[in-house]
Parts: sequence; C-alpha cells; structure tokens
Amino acid sequence: MEHLAAKSPSDSEVVMTQLILPSDANNLNSAFGGKVMEWIDICGAIAAQRHCRQVVVTASMDDLHFHAPIRVGWIAQLRARVLATFRTSMEVGVTVHAENPLTGERSLTTSALMTFVALNQEGGRVQVPALKLETEEERAAAQEAEERRAQRIARQKQAQTWLRVMPG
Ligand SMILES: CC(C)(COP(=O)(O)OP(=O)(O)OC[C@H]1O[C@@H](n2cnc3c(N)ncnc32)[C@H](O)[C@@H]1OP(=O)(O)O)[C@@H](O)C(=O)NCCC(=O)NCCS
Repeated sequence: MEHLAAKSPSDSEVVMTQLILPSDANNLNSAFGGKVMEWIDICGAIAAQRHCRQVVVTASMDDLHFHAPIRVGWIAQLRARVLATFRTSMEVGVTVHAENPLTGERSLTTSALMTFVALNQEGGRVQVPALKLETEEERAAAQEAEERRAQRIARQKQAQTWLRVMPG
C-alpha cells in the first residue's frame, strides 16, 4: 500500500515564521500565550498531515512550556517534526524560537508535544505510515514518545477525580 510507505521525520518537517504584531500581544507587550498555542497547533497539524496525507484532528497537547516571552516586533520561528507514529495517531514535537530581527539572536521560547489522529472522509480513524528513523537521536526521541504514550494510557485508566469537582 503506497500511502502507508514509511516516511522519515524530515519528509514532513514544518518551519513556520510569524512576526509578532501588536494584535498578537498581551498587556506586557509580548506574544499572547493563546496565540502562540494556535500557531503551535497549526504547525503541528501540518506536519502530521504531511506525514499521513489525511485529515488530522488534535487529540491532545502535552508538556506545553512557555520558557520565555517573545517581544512584539520580534520574529517567532516554529518548527514541527513527527517524533513517533502509532496505529492511527502521531506524536509531533513543536518548538518556538524567538529571533531578534535587528541582531539575528535566537532563543527557545516555547515547546510542546502534540498527538494528532488521522481521519478518513467518513470521520473514521485510519492507519498512518510508519516513521523511518534514521539517526540515533530520532530513535531515542521515538522511544521516549512510546514511553509517554504508555504512561498516558495507564493514567487514563485511573479515576480522573478532578473532573468530579468541575460541574458541567
Ligand atoms: C481524538 C479522537 C479522534 C480519539 O477518538 P477515540 O474514540 O478516543 O479513539 P480511540 O480510542 O479509537 O483512539 C484512536 C487513537 O487516538 C489516540 N488517542 C485517543 N485519545 C488520545 C489522547 N487524549 N491523547 C493522545 N492520543 C489519544 C489513541 O491512543 C489511538 O491511537 P492509535 O490508533 O495510534 O493507537 C476523538 O476523541 C476526537 O474526535 N476528539 C476531538 C478532536 C477535536 O475536535 N480536536 C480539535 C479540533 S482539530
């Protein structure tokens, strides 16, 4: 099946560049976190779609960390890479670096791990291609993703008691 031929993470990598405008800012004159999350979701979804060439939905966002603010007028460069594939889901890592447009100085500001699920035209889940892991680092990243998935599945089996204090 041609559409299930394994692909390497570089085949679907996405680099997305945004200028931080005043309309993207919080009241501290840096990028609003919700806007950065939107870009992360879009960048990650494009990588997942490129990998499986199917429509994808976001199942979860984990380990979202805002390490540093991005100032208005600076450039945000997002990068998304598929880290691991499972049956119908893919874990995608997304980073955001801030770039000072005047000096070119860059630093990591945000990182997140996302899981996307591939859907067919009828909304049913579809199998995704395997990931062709070519470097030691890629193999280690995929192994970590396997462990995170096992932990998530184990956690989902536990009682989510916090939901009981959240009336609908
Ligand atoms: C994501 C969704 C399709 C999963 O549906 P489901 O009925 O729970 O599906 P299943 O239990 O059959 O799991 C399907 C896959 O999703 C994965 N998955 C389900 N919930 C997940 C979660 N919270 N985090 C990570 N992966 C998840 C499963 O591990 C499974 O992966 P696999 O096939 O690779 O083993 C469904 O919950 C959904 O449609 N959610 C809403 C998505 C959405 O609207 N996103 C925002 C807009 S894009």
